[in-house]
Amino acid sequence: MNAPVLRTELPGPKARAIITRDADVTSPSLIKEYPLVVARGEGTVIEDVDGNQFLDFMSGIAVTLTGHCHAEVLSRIHAQSKQLLHICGTDFYYDTYTELCRRLAALGPGDDPWRVYLGNSGAEAVEGAIKLARYHTGRSDIIAFHGAFHGRTYGAMSLTASKAKQRAGFGPMLPGIHHLPYGDCSNCAYNLIFPSCDVHCVESWRDGIFRRRVAPTEVAAVIVEPIQGEGGHCVPPPDFFVRLRRLCDDYGILLIADEIQSGMGRTGTFFALEHSGVVPDIITLAKGLGSGLPISALMAKEYIMTWPPGSHGSTFGGNPVSCAAALATLDLIQSGLMANAKVIGTYLRKSLDDLAARYDGIREIRGRGLMIAMEFTQPGEAARFEQACFQRGLLVLGCGQNAVRLAPPLIVTRHDVDVAADIMEHVLAS
Ligand SMILES: Cc1ncc(COP(=O)(O)O)c(C=O)c1O
Repeated sequence: MNAPVLRTELPGPKARAIITRDADVTSPSLIKEYPLVVARGEGTVIEDVDGNQFLDFMSGIAVTLTGHCHAEVLSRIHAQSKQLLHICGTDFYYDTYTELCRRLAALGPGDDPWRVYLGNSGAEAVEGAIKLARYHTGRSDIIAFHGAFHGRTYGAMSLTASKAKQRAGFGPMLPGIHHLPYGDCSNCAYNLIFPSCDVHCVESWRDGIFRRRVAPTEVAAVIVEPIQGEGGHCVPPPDFFVRLRRLCDDYGILLIADEIQSGMGRTGTFFALEHSGVVPDIITLAKGLGSGLPISALMAKEYIMTWPPGSHGSTFGGNPVSCAAALATLDLIQSGLMANAKVIGTYLRKSLDDLAARYDGIREIRGRGLMIAMEFTQPGEAARFEQACFQRGLLVLGCGQNAVRLAPPLIVTRHDVDVAADIMEHVLAS
């Protein structure tokens, strides 16, 4: 399939009919970024029900890492689904579960051995991380960051501080959660006071939160996205994580890296935190892990994952078919897609930097690998840009305060980037 190919007005007649029927019965909490009604996907292209073809630079929110319906992923799903659909990995054994845990454990950073628990969604992995951190340390509190998005279940929502409407009306939240400024240097809360940054946001904790609000001995964990996804693809300086690690070590606090959006090779390394050289104690993965099938992983150093049988589990977690998709995804990431994310990520970054140099309305281009954002100057501009791209056959997504995120599948080519850049340029020019 090629993209963009636009055959009707958007949304087309078949899409409009489905949208009308949908409005009667689905939960009004759903967002629906733009009126895209999907019929099928192939590689970097999505076709809607009216035969319009779109270039996909959002991957179903950073999920379809290997592109839509990659032949190798389909073949492994097909083979597994003919053998076994379900038996429950919490209570019984099957090889794909064991094999996926072995593969992920081997990827765990640092010298300590890792163990892996498989779940169904990102939020579920985050819930597991909260439970494990509390269980292992015997402490209650967790520190998270402004701009963070960790999911919609109660624990994960309590850690989330991205948009107030995601929490509004649902309180009280989990107690003992503290939110602190993220290392988002272009919106630094301290810049005016400390023009020469010494990662003051982290260093101020000792004298700030730990002296005034909570004793560090009450804190089980700090949970951090190595690059905030929904928060705006913000990349903190590497020193942010080095200092965070040191602070955690000083007080016996666990460091949880939420790699649900940033992991799986998207930034050019398997885990985005690798760019800083920092080794976390717990890692959460989901989204791209199954190339579109629901699966998540909670990884922890072996000496931390000591919870006893029966303390945590799930009926569907690590479903055999999702495990097969994840094993195929890992093979593809390790045999070239991660390297492609680095190369094409650099190319995409350059194209966007060129646009930013020519159009005043772009405030900043930031990100790493194939996790890039374009921040606008004028309020509301990102939302207008997102809609205009859709109308021209390019799928992007909003993020942060006033930015759009570009997170194409890792199979993306230079040609795809040229097409996307061309569309973006037309949108900016108009
Ligand atoms: C960093 C991060 N953590 C957790 C989640 C929650 O994942 P899920 O929607 O699969 O529950 C998301 C989802 O966007 C995410 O980006």
